[in-house]
Amino acid sequence: MDNNRDTAADPLPQTGLPATEVPGTGLLGTEPSETDLPVTEAAQLLPVAELHLHIEGTLQPELIFELAERNGITLPYSGLEELRGLYEFSDLQSFLNLYYANMAVLQTEQDFADMTSAYLARAAAAGVRHAEIMMDPQAHLSRGVSLETCVNGVVSALATSQEDFGISTLLIAAFLRDLSEESALEVLDGLLAMNAPIAAIGLDSAEVGNPPAKFERLFAKAREAGLRLTAHAGEEGPPSYIIDALDILGVERIDHGIRCMEDPELVERLVADRIPLTVCPLSNVRLRAVDTLADHPLPAMLAAGLNVSVNSDDPAYFGGYVDDNFSQLKAVFDLSDFDRARLAANSIHSSFASEERKAELLDELNAG
Ligand code: HPA
Ligand code: ZN
Repeated sequence: MDNNRDTAADPLPQTGLPATEVPGTGLLGTEPSETDLPVTEAAQLLPVAELHLHIEGTLQPELIFELAERNGITLPYSGLEELRGLYEFSDLQSFLNLYYANMAVLQTEQDFADMTSAYLARAAAAGVRHAEIMMDPQAHLSRGVSLETCVNGVVSALATSQEDFGISTLLIAAFLRDLSEESALEVLDGLLAMNAPIAAIGLDSAEVGNPPAKFERLFAKAREAGLRLTAHAGEEGPPSYIIDALDILGVERIDHGIRCMEDPELVERLVADRIPLTVCPLSNVRLRAVDTLADHPLPAMLAAGLNVSVNSDDPAYFGGYVDDNFSQLKAVFDLSDFDRARLAANSIHSSFASEERKAELLDELNAG
């Protein structure tokens, strides 16, 4: 794990070059040469950075039952089948209700460590070589689980992620936007006071009605503390939330961002500034932000020249990890090898990893 605070103050750490040029890769140009592509077969499982992942959303039904038993918790489901039957969502809130309820099984540092190790093992098999992992401290504090327990538990698994799974990792503290800014500020203070190894903050949970402006002081404080900044915007919320996340919160990255496609002027700005959008296709289908994968705007976003990456969001709930997202996209859209390599390169460039780590991963990608 790399807390990466030293480089945290750098704005957009990408290239400083026009949008169509990225040194050493040839992968990001809007008019690519086919000779830039990695070998087709190797591209089946590309080395990628996962930038949009909620660790609590990796709790698989089996682990939920295992942890419940270990902690003497009686679940309100008779078994795996009944629980799995609830993974039918009508919108973001219907998912969040189950996501928060299932967190009841996370009680000890070991529980958080086991959940994190299980994700890392599965992510390694998906080709993930760098992961920026969000956790929701407020969702644990409200259940009486301390900051130390949740942070130390996750961090204990992240500390050896490189040796154990070949994955470099960073931790992002995400704040629940349906709670008050005072609550978020208090928790950020607690994280800073305990010197928690967080590299960034994020903003998640119920989007509509909780606009970015509500958290202006939180993001200003995090920036002053040298943290990197990202926020969910434009998942269910309007394009104006994306604009406000950039202008009011000063975020470097937008999580989801798919509704930018409703605002051509915004798309133009995001392209010009190469703002990373961490897109989660299977999540968008399962939460009904789009009707079917075939209706997903990802191909149009790529065609527009947006800096998009593919991520799994809450893979235990949405039917797949990063590799599943890529394979289903390929099946539905027949994504070219070039586009898949471009998505992988975008994920690496858009990460908060050190420049050295990014160069290593890009070399790996280009080696095909
Ligand atoms: N959106 C908002 N909040 C979340 C999500 C999401 O996709 N996943 C976990 N918390
Ligand atoms: Zn998310």
